[in-house]
Amino acid sequence: MAVRYPAEIRCQKELEALQLADTYPKPQGWLLSPRMVERFILGSEEEWVTKDGEKIRIRPKYWGDRSLIQVAIATLASDRGLMLAGEPGTAKSWLSEHLSAAISGTSQLIVQGTSGTNEDQIKYTWNYAMLIAQGPSTEALVESPMMDGMKQGKLVRFEELTRCHSQIQDVMISILSEKQIAIPELNTVVNAEKGFNVIATANTADKGVNDMSAALKRRFNFVVIPVLTDLEQEMKLVEERAKEQMLSLGLEAQIPPDLVRLMTTVFQELRRGKTIDRQMQIKKPSTVLSTAELISVMSNSAILSTYFGDGSIQMKEVVRSMFGAVSKEDDTDLDVVKEYVETVVRDREGQVWADFYQTCKEQL
Ligand SMILES: Nc1ncnc2c1ncn2[C@@H]1O[C@H](COP(=O)(O)OP(=O)(O)OP(=O)(O)O)[C@@H](O)[C@H]1O
Ligand SMILES: [Mg+2]
Repeated sequence: MAVRYPAEIRCQKELEALQLADTYPKPQGWLLSPRMVERFILGSEEEWVTKDGEKIRIRPKYWGDRSLIQVAIATLASDRGLMLAGEPGTAKSWLSEHLSAAISGTSQLIVQGTSGTNEDQIKYTWNYAMLIAQGPSTEALVESPMMDGMKQGKLVRFEELTRCHSQIQDVMISILSEKQIAIPELNTVVNAEKGFNVIATANTADKGVNDMSAALKRRFNFVVIPVLTDLEQEMKLVEERAKEQMLSLGLEAQIPPDLVRLMTTVFQELRRGKTIDRQMQIKKPSTVLSTAELISVMSNSAILSTYFGDGSIQMKEVVRSMFGAVSKEDDTDLDVVKEYVETVVRDREGQVWADFYQTCKEQL
């Protein structure tokens, strides 16, 4: 059993059911129509029937703005690439995985951008033993995921594009405009089949690491993935995702809703530098307190309580995990939390806030 399966396997039943019911027009090379892709990403309360006659609902994968998802899907049907940009932990990679699983049936054609990525990893390379023995031949050619996606007419994911050096990023210009890769050694050109496109992600916290050229920017439609600001929505998401993560670890911890509400409020307030009621300015920690971070605070606490506690999450576990998340970049961020606890938390009403205050005082 694998630690983690790709989206197309995890969500196989949902994808099958949507395909069965799909009567809308599809762009060439797509497995699902844009409308069905939208349902897959945002979820659907209707009942859908799988191949085996089982009735299921479509769970939401992404919580957020519908129109943003529609723009992303429409872009993929156009001749421009899709660039998902945003702060760390806003579900860019998660969205790119689910979009490619729904549209192409695979989320596994990935180029991971790093400062060490070279042109070969984007285009093609050679099996050097064969190359030396026989000279260039189709057998000796080792295709990149990009070339593979072109040939099969599928979506290719380019993760963290701006981590690559600018010259390397610019290799994408010709791929996105000509939709082909030339192989001069074999005197051929690989043309992209219908259905091919690129979903890139870029972290705005890394902005400036390697800026994108204007020419490349023009070949992408940028969709900026925002940090969730709606408290109820973020709470729901955190609860669902933390539960899912626990299930995948084979654990079944209860995640108390009042703790989720408390932590989500704390994260949102520290993230904005303002209290939820907008009455008070507070200092912001330098680290990014993303939704992804919040999910892992909750699931880490659940793991701690399952293995070392009585199975129900306690305040001290949550506070410990939260301090870990806050101080990972800079220890002085804990001072920011200390100030927040003294100025905001102390005066809040309710048992759970009082508990939180007490536990923070003990641990800070
Ligand atoms: N709005 C959201 N809807 C659904 N899931 C979300 C949302 N925001 C965050 N998540 C969750 O956060 C986790 C991390 O997301 P992901 O790794 O895709 O972030 P990212 O934007 O790619 O971050 P990075 O820039 O660090 O690569 C995922 O498990 C995802 O479910
Ligand atoms: Mg990512």
